[in-house]
Amino acid sequence: MIKAPHSEPTDPQQALPPTAQSLRNLKIKHTRIAHLMSDLHTLVYPGSQDSLLLVCGPTGVGKSTLAHYVVETSLQSNEEQMSVNAGLIPAVYIEAPSSGENEFSWRLFYSKILTQLDPEFMHQMPRASFGIDIESGRMVRPRTSSGQSLASLRTAVERGLRARGTQLLVIDEAAHIIRQTSARRLEIQLDTLKSLANACGAQILLIGAYDLYQLMSLSGQLSRRTHVLHFERYRQDRPEDERAFLSCIRKFQSALPHLWGDNLLAHAEALHENTVGCVGTLSAILMRTARLIENKEGGSWSVDALRHSLLTDAQHKSILGETLDGEITVIPGLLRNLPKAPRRSTSQGRYVA
Ligand SMILES: Nc1ncnc2c1ncn2[C@@H]1O[C@H](COP(=O)(O)OP(=O)(O)O)[C@@H](O)[C@H]1O
Ligand SMILES: [Mg+2]
Repeated sequence: MIKAPHSEPTDPQQALPPTAQSLRNLKIKHTRIAHLMSDLHTLVYPGSQDSLLLVCGPTGVGKSTLAHYVVETSLQSNEEQMSVNAGLIPAVYIEAPSSGENEFSWRLFYSKILTQLDPEFMHQMPRASFGIDIESGRMVRPRTSSGQSLASLRTAVERGLRARGTQLLVIDEAAHIIRQTSARRLEIQLDTLKSLANACGAQILLIGAYDLYQLMSLSGQLSRRTHVLHFERYRQDRPEDERAFLSCIRKFQSALPHLWGDNLLAHAEALHENTVGCVGTLSAILMRTARLIENKEGGSWSVDALRHSLLTDAQHKSILGETLDGEITVIPGLLRNLPKAPRRSTSQGRYVA
């Protein structure tokens, strides 16, 4: 959740300085998050035609953090209805199970949703009914006819989502659903999701790295029918991005002043460069730095602690390469062009736009 930094004890006598660990609780509602939340606020509403929405961006930009924030915000805004109807779950977050080398497991996917809708679900369902070997605990092809078992899980999910009044299903790591599929099956996989959304009157928000967008765009039909939002990094060649990134560094800096004083700002440019402008990567680097300082004798700031925490040149090169490739694919696909309105003649014979 995007919330204020860890609250401190109120008694100054007992006030302990925050630790590296407390950075975990600091979720900055930075410019990109605010913009994406506002876009989603416009796009997600009962009766919307956009049954599938997609958010994609580079690794470490903060996509999973956004996904949790979207769900929590939805729960907060429905607090009143939830207090009247305790069974209501307006938004659900799940991470798509990784398919590894095999095909995507819809059984596992549906059972994950059911667990969110009812934590008791896993205990109530006979484990064999969704393909788990009772002795080894590993996924197996169910003994029942697979179609039947899958169909009953699907029905249970549809019923569950409707019964819980779920309006939004957020699926993180959504590329797992389509990664191993052929172009032909791609549309079938996504139609399965679309029909799930339609059957329950819910919207589905798919979240993933650029490969999700690249996979989706293999099908022209899908990319035409899906609304895409770009969770972009802060670029160094845009002054407004630089300012926004700097403001994030400032927030991290003021969370642990006893560890680094105002030394982080002095390295703002290097941090922007090394993190490729991704706030999640910045958070990970500063968390490592803070821990290194804490574990050092005397616990005082050193540039070495920061240097040790940066991405290596190889990591940086690979993330930057992936990000630039992703941007090249996504940005042109998002351009919108409103042709100029035709000039109309006024009663005085003049033309207006
Ligand atoms: N806005 C933010 N403020 C503070 N920390 C953040 C923020 N966004 C991400 N992080 C932290 O950065 C790390 C990576 O973020 P995550 O959301 O998992 O990125 P992604 O899913 O894009 O790879 C997480 O530990 C997360 O808590
Ligand atoms: Mg993630």
